[in-house]
Amino acid sequence: MDYQSPRGTQDILPEEQPYWRYVQEKAAAVAERYGYARIDTPTFEDSHLFIRTVGEETDIVSKEMYTFADRGGSDLTLRPEGTAPVCRAYLEHGMGSRPKPVKLYYLANIFRYDRPQAGRYREHHQFGFELIGEADAGADAEVIDMAWRFYSELGLTTLPVQLNSIGCPECRAEYVAALKAYYESCIDTQCQDCRVRYHKNPLRLLDCKKPDCRAAAAKAPRSTDYLCPDCKAHFEKLIAMLGAVGIPFEINNCLVRGLDYYRRTVFEIQPQEEGAQSTIGGGGRYDGLLEQLGGDSTPATGFATGIERIILNLKRQNVAVPPLPAPRFYLAWLGDSAALVAFTLAADLRREGIGLVQSLGGRSLKAQLRGASAVGAKYALILGESELETRTVILRDMSNSEQSSLPLDGLASALKNL
Ligand code: HAM
Repeated sequence: MDYQSPRGTQDILPEEQPYWRYVQEKAAAVAERYGYARIDTPTFEDSHLFIRTVGEETDIVSKEMYTFADRGGSDLTLRPEGTAPVCRAYLEHGMGSRPKPVKLYYLANIFRYDRPQAGRYREHHQFGFELIGEADAGADAEVIDMAWRFYSELGLTTLPVQLNSIGCPECRAEYVAALKAYYESCIDTQCQDCRVRYHKNPLRLLDCKKPDCRAAAAKAPRSTDYLCPDCKAHFEKLIAMLGAVGIPFEINNCLVRGLDYYRRTVFEIQPQEEGAQSTIGGGGRYDGLLEQLGGDSTPATGFATGIERIILNLKRQNVAVPPLPAPRFYLAWLGDSAALVAFTLAADLRREGIGLVQSLGGRSLKAQLRGASAVGAKYALILGESELETRTVILRDMSNSEQSSLPLDGLASALKNL
């Protein structure tokens, strides 16, 4: 074998597809129930769209983007997230003139040059939704409610919501100053990455995963103690609303998220696993993003979840997913003169909406019946020389091998009535 799929990517084989169909259908159904319309954006965008919004100092932009120049010299990037492209499309198509809020969802592949491991890929897939044009805390509550209901309806359990508020740019400035003052005396004892974060992106000091750094973060000043009155009221209203709909959440003052566009509300959903925790979905409010892209000042909030991580958790929690529909019938035939009749019969039955696999290539009846079992057909139809003469077909129930004869005329309706 000379080639393998590129590191950090994977083939989704037929046996995995029931999980994908299950998650994607549930995603679309839940999104539509909450009033979201689907949007699809291109796989790649102008690189600056992500640099400006996700932030130059974030891991995503500084280390993980698949960036390339095309033959015309344009600077392009395979999307490393879905929010900025949706906002770009919102502005480009004048969606600001639509009744607000505008609610959009997507199912998209996402590219990050990450270190591959279980549940972490270089190409992954997200279900995301964005609620654009509503500043009230009720919008955040509805987004969190929808994320949580989506997981529950999939059959996933023990999914507490981690919640924090990182304030607006005004009150955050005061908080960041307090954070830097706190770290000033201990920054030399933190990891190398944290020493860089101290200068470039101090909020990220709080979500370093290294044990020593975590200990320092646990005692650091809390953003929620520095909220301005408006941000505080927003956070309190959100907490009250989540409590009212019974969503289990805990406040995690170390939760800051890895993208720079967030304001006020940030949240993540983390299934409890043995030892480690890995985030299955996350989101928050990003009121400044559309303005940053040249639009009017527009409040917005949203969420995205990784489909590979959902499937990993469905398997861990032994959630049974429905099988994909398989053809009910298998058409076996014997003798050269039956070949053409079988071919046209198969085409006619499928045109009538009947799922049918046709035997190809003229094998023994035994081999053809093995083929019928292999595709999971409930019935085999058998067409031989004598059936051609009597214009009939043998119907064989694959579960008990019982056989009967059916006329070719009106076969489609007879099969539909089985
Ligand atoms: P994010 O937290 O970077 O947020 O990604 C969302 C989810 O995508 C993660 O919780 C995780 O399940 C999945 N994910 C991320 N990276 C990988 C990876 N390398 N391999 C597998 N799965 C991964 C965002 O992207 C924001 N755009 C979410 C958002 C929407 N905020 C507001 N609206």
